[in-house]
Amino acid sequence: MKALLLCGGEGTRLRPFTHTRPKQLFPLANKAILFYILEYLASSPIREVVMITGTTGAQIRAAVGNGEKWGLHITYVEQPQPLGLAHTVLLAEEALGAEAFMMYLGDNLLEEPLSDIVQAFSRNYAAGRLDELVLVHEVKNPSQFGVAEIREDRVIKVIEKPEAPSSNLALAGIYFFSPEIYNSVRKISPSARGELEITDAIQDLINRGQTVGYRRLKGWWKDTGSPEELLSAQKLLLRQEKKEIRGELFRSHITGRIQLGANSIVENSRLKGPVCIGADCRIKDAVLGPFLSVGDRVEIDRAEVKKSILLPGCRVENLSLTDSILGERSRASAPRPASPEAPGFPHRLLLGDDSSVELQAKRAQKAGYD
Ligand code: DAU
Repeated sequence: MKALLLCGGEGTRLRPFTHTRPKQLFPLANKAILFYILEYLASSPIREVVMITGTTGAQIRAAVGNGEKWGLHITYVEQPQPLGLAHTVLLAEEALGAEAFMMYLGDNLLEEPLSDIVQAFSRNYAAGRLDELVLVHEVKNPSQFGVAEIREDRVIKVIEKPEAPSSNLALAGIYFFSPEIYNSVRKISPSARGELEITDAIQDLINRGQTVGYRRLKGWWKDTGSPEELLSAQKLLLRQEKKEIRGELFRSHITGRIQLGANSIVENSRLKGPVCIGADCRIKDAVLGPFLSVGDRVEIDRAEVKKSILLPGCRVENLSLTDSILGERSRASAPRPASPEAPGFPHRLLLGDDSSVELQAKRAQKAGYD
């Protein structure tokens, strides 16, 4: 079976980070979201991937190539404008051929092994027990997703981001479609937000008597569409990381799972895992973690940082940060503290690439700084 992997879209909810990169290449625990997805696809029987790319296609192609690194064969289909998930199905029709296929949204991460899911569809499809399959997950905020209404073993209604959801079952970003989907997409019209919605196409399949089955996902599932979701997805991924120390530690104390990249030096600091630090970093007089990723070439001096993502080449000085994302080569600093024990007033920063923030002395004084 082939997979249709969606990596277009504009990533507006992830600005400023998506001004300079496609959201699918944003790193969590120092690895691009898309690379986790390609590893995930490669762990299943799927080998052929049709990848949809938009305006950021060149960056994605440069990072992924033809997929052989993952044992996959990737062909690219360009979507000049993000006209909706269902629109991509029509663009890929020729490349996918007249067979059932899996559609995977390039910002979704999940825990359940993909092989189990693919096999569940293939078995039931071959036996004629269903025509399509959607994956659902119970959520507290269903109005932010496509929502499924179910009866017995099938889906009877789907609706995109409803104001008054009729269930708490969100549609996760993995779908299995029979070739009937092409006829349904041809019949639907753009929604109020101007997109051809995949939920409208699924509803058309249901209305035409197709059996749309559902499967409840096991384990966690993340749509990494907002900064909060990035941080919470990273938390889950960091829990799976293994300990590996390649750099050097001086007068420092570590607890929990720590990854320290080659040539990185940690001095007079405390690291509370899980923390993942890249290569060529300089870390001094710091308290780091838990749930922190630090990209290559980052410098941290007299700072406390936890539950955050620091992208390559950024610098943090005299600051306490939590739930923050600092873009590549960005700078965040405050005046030097009165004493090394001065209480750190935790800040939350979302800083785009090459940005700089300097905490004002007056505000800093209140928080115990010089
Ligand atoms: O994550 C699950 C949700 O994904 C579902 O519950 C919703 O029913 C479904 O519509 C979708 O909602 P989102 O608003 O999260 O979709 P988003 O616009 O973020 O797009 C998902 C992926 O598809 C993302 O990797 C970008 C890509 N995309 C998106 C559009 C609109 C394209 O490749 N082309 C497009 O035209």
